[in-house]
Amino acid sequence: MTDRTFVIIKPDAVRRGLVGVVLARYESKGLEIVTLDWRTIDAAMADQHYAEHVAQPWYPALREFITSGPLLAVVLEGPAAIEAVRTMNGATNGVAAAPGSIRGDYSLSNRENLVHASDSPHSAEREIALWFPGLS
Ligand code: CDP
Ligand code: MG
Repeated sequence: MTDRTFVIIKPDAVRRGLVGVVLARYESKGLEIVTLDWRTIDAAMADQHYAEHVAQPWYPALREFITSGPLLAVVLEGPAAIEAVRTMNGATNGVAAAPGSIRGDYSLSNRENLVHASDSPHSAEREIALWFPGLS
């Protein structure tokens, strides 16, 4: 089953010069880049993207982080892409994320954890429509 998922290479990864490393891992896995775009998002866009989290006590810090600089918004496609990318990204907290995962290899943070990926077909559809409304 081929599906599409939405990925953010977050501002920490951009600042650390890890965009190429992270993108190469997805490409090497066999996932196809459908489209990608540099964005710097405002608070309103952050609130829409992270709608499920806006009431969390840690959300203001997350919003500060995700709006702090350029990020790369990416749509990837491939067999079971949603599950494959979540597995590649690893657990949310870089400390706990398995070595071999992107977060496990490059992050020690529960917030600055390099990547976002859609967690379900419903999320993928919602996020792709939000970030790339013209994409067919
Ligand atoms: O990104 P993922 O789906 O693995 O985690 P989440 O629980 O949906 O949280 C979304 C994002 O919020 C995480 O990737 C972190 O960047 C951030 N976060 C945070 O800043 N502080 C927390 N205590 C938990 C998550
Ligand atoms: Mg999540």
